[in-house]
Amino acid sequence: MADKKARLTVDGLDEAIELPVYSGTEGPDVIDVRPLTGNGLFTYDPGFVSTAACESKITYIDGANGILLHRGYPIEQLAEKSDYLEVCYLLLNGELPTAEQKEKFVNTISNHTMVHEQLSQFFKGFRRDAHPMAIMCGVVGALSAFYHDSLDINDPHHREVCAYRLIAKMPTLAAMCYKYSIGQPFMYPQNNLSYGENFLRMMFGTPCADYEVNPVLARAMDRIFILHADHEQNASTSTVRLAGSSGANPFACIAAGIAALWGPAHGGANEAVLNMLDEIGDAENIPEFIEKAKDPNDPFRLMGFGHRVYRNFDPRAKVMKKTCDEVLGLLGIENDPQLQIAKQLEQIALEDEYFVKRKLYPNVDFYSGIILKAIGIPTNMFTVIFALSRTIGWISHWNEFHSSPNKIGRPRQLYTGEQQRDYPA
Ligand code: ACO
Repeated sequence: MADKKARLTVDGLDEAIELPVYSGTEGPDVIDVRPLTGNGLFTYDPGFVSTAACESKITYIDGANGILLHRGYPIEQLAEKSDYLEVCYLLLNGELPTAEQKEKFVNTISNHTMVHEQLSQFFKGFRRDAHPMAIMCGVVGALSAFYHDSLDINDPHHREVCAYRLIAKMPTLAAMCYKYSIGQPFMYPQNNLSYGENFLRMMFGTPCADYEVNPVLARAMDRIFILHADHEQNASTSTVRLAGSSGANPFACIAAGIAALWGPAHGGANEAVLNMLDEIGDAENIPEFIEKAKDPNDPFRLMGFGHRVYRNFDPRAKVMKKTCDEVLGLLGIENDPQLQIAKQLEQIALEDEYFVKRKLYPNVDFYSGIILKAIGIPTNMFTVIFALSRTIGWISHWNEFHSSPNKIGRPRQLYTGEQQRDYPA
């Protein structure tokens, strides 16, 4: 597999160290640095900016050109022509399903949507005003205490059942978090509805009245799920892989992913965008906030702008922007003051030299927050919806990790602390 070689000369070493160079099917070549350890050396790469931590066949991103492919298919085409459960099948299995395979997959997922009845009592241990991501970390981790029959990580069938359970139960758990926070009864899933419709009904329906799901909103919801489904080795996916590398059970690994996603530099950004729009308050304050974002001595950043990998428009943001216009048009709320601030902010940032020079474009979270708000989803649920959508990515990577020979993840460090010294006499 190594078609080329790199040679590294190091002061103090007599001979150059030969390092294999691998070429993937897309993207830059990768230098295999493992021979360094035999020479007493490690590499240093805080933030893993230049490090490929694994080999993967699931998702490819070309950040410079704004390209995102799942199993080779461009995200724009999937968002337009596919639906979330089909994308789940694709990510998990590597190919799009036939009509028969799709029907079977959708049925299987539908049959796993309920959660163990005792889990509903688990919720009562949380304060009603707890952040739903805090509850999600707890209840998803707790699934490992309920589904003992699928925890053999070396058995491909067990891994598959875990994946089905997670995909199916995440919307149910997410909606339960919301219902718990507002003191309404939990809604059982309804298996004749699509994935997006079912989620909206569990969120906004009550046992007292039928809930009619608006098809445009259900489609928008499905798009949000698709656009967040996977994004190769981001912080939360890497966390899931690392947790999984110790042999931990999949529910615990996904709970670790949820925790990593929560931060505002990652999945928490969609919530942070809306909080920032609130803080700006009025369009006339935008210049002041733009100046704060540009000030190197001010920690404030424009939430929903910038991305570690994309140095171009995030392709997901383009689709999301279109969906955003559709939803706002349908609901007749194009003139919402907060949304007006968002639009002006986007325009100014796209033209401002600071943002242009650093290639800071609006990312997927900038628009998803606006759509979710328009659908009526409370701000603190935004990251939960991201977690729900990303579960398929996490579990596909976890499954890929366990499908071939693997090692526990164990990074090293550049130690700069005290040298060995004696305890005071
Ligand atoms: N607002 C203002 N300046 C910014 C922003 C921003 N949102 N993002 C980056 N910059 C500036 C940095 O200050 C830095 O400037 P400098 O070169 O003068 O020092 C330069 O742009 C490069 O930024 P880095 O922090 O080096 O970029 P990094 O790749 O480490 O960070 C990140 C990426 C975390 C996404 C960052 O852009 C950010 O904090 N954005 C806001 C939070 C956000 O929207 N996160 C969602 C990411 S998408 C997702 O997870 C789905």
